[in-house]
Amino acid sequence: MAPKGADLPHPYARPVAAAVATAIPPAELARRRAEAERICLVDVRPFEERRLARLHDEQHLPLGELPARLSEIPRDRPVVAYDQFGEDGRRAAELLVGLGVREAGYLEGGLDAYARVVDPSVGRYGLVPSPYVLRQLPRRETGCLAYFVGDPTERVAVVIDPGPDVGPYLHMLQEEHWRLAAIVETHTHADHLAGHAALAHATGAPIAVGRRSPAAYPHRSLADGESLGVGTLELVALETPGHTPDHLTLRLGGAAFTGDTLLLGGCGRTDLGDGDPDALFESLRERILRLPDATIVYPAHYGPRHGLVDSFSSTIGIERATNEALTIADRSAFLRYMTEGWPPKPASFDAIVRANLAPFP
Ligand SMILES: [Fe+2]
Repeated sequence: MAPKGADLPHPYARPVAAAVATAIPPAELARRRAEAERICLVDVRPFEERRLARLHDEQHLPLGELPARLSEIPRDRPVVAYDQFGEDGRRAAELLVGLGVREAGYLEGGLDAYARVVDPSVGRYGLVPSPYVLRQLPRRETGCLAYFVGDPTERVAVVIDPGPDVGPYLHMLQEEHWRLAAIVETHTHADHLAGHAALAHATGAPIAVGRRSPAAYPHRSLADGESLGVGTLELVALETPGHTPDHLTLRLGGAAFTGDTLLLGGCGRTDLGDGDPDALFESLRERILRLPDATIVYPAHYGPRHGLVDSFSSTIGIERATNEALTIADRSAFLRYMTEGWPPKPASFDAIVRANLAPFP
């Protein structure tokens, strides 16, 4: 278990050890392969994306399955992970370095760059249809992540965990001709003022929250298994109490918006907003870890301000293998982990919770 220091500046903060992987430019990869260097090339994309293009003489290990299939990675030659744009390739390589594969790198810029620099016959992205538009809206000053999810055929969207400055959402809705079907709060936030009220006021969209929320504003309560329609899309509520009693994880196809139940490399604290470490243990074990390894994880916080990695997404498979909170299998050890050694709760948090639950003026 990583040390947690009382002298760290933020309640979530603790040191993050980031593995470093080597970026390999497309031209260098092409040269080394042309020189017949023995390189293990690993495509980490989902199966369906391989229809678009793939490099010859490679193997396929989807990013989410990588930790469980580590034994398939050879240790006697350099390993180069690739995806379409380089980001998942980098994550895969960092994961491999962190798991002890010393000579792991990634194709810089992914296949898209490879097509531009080396081989124009390699297919480029744009041909794989996505059933939804997904935008992550990070707020670097607070380390928060909001999400804009839209059905591109019906031009209907939902915003998850909006920040208090609703300008970017309104701009997107107006410029791109979306109708906002709903605003969803994954839970009652204690560390920042939420934007549901301002966004509802500006758009008239209803607000949906977990059924255990004590919200005093008009809202729809989502129970476990209930779905929220967004055009042809369905967000399905998965109750994951612990960080707060009302916490929901929202599933959308092969993705999960995990709020603060599951963060990348950790989980949300239980001492900030009426949380319960025992309930969080259950939620992580019995709900989150039962999702398929390939599920893409979209958390509500990221970055060094929260002692988290500077990444915006992961997979259940990667978190299962590397997430500090998920690797503690013993309940009493987890309870100690969640209750001991954290910095004090900031004095402002109770007032923030009250403001976030307050009725509309
Ligand atoms: Fe939270």
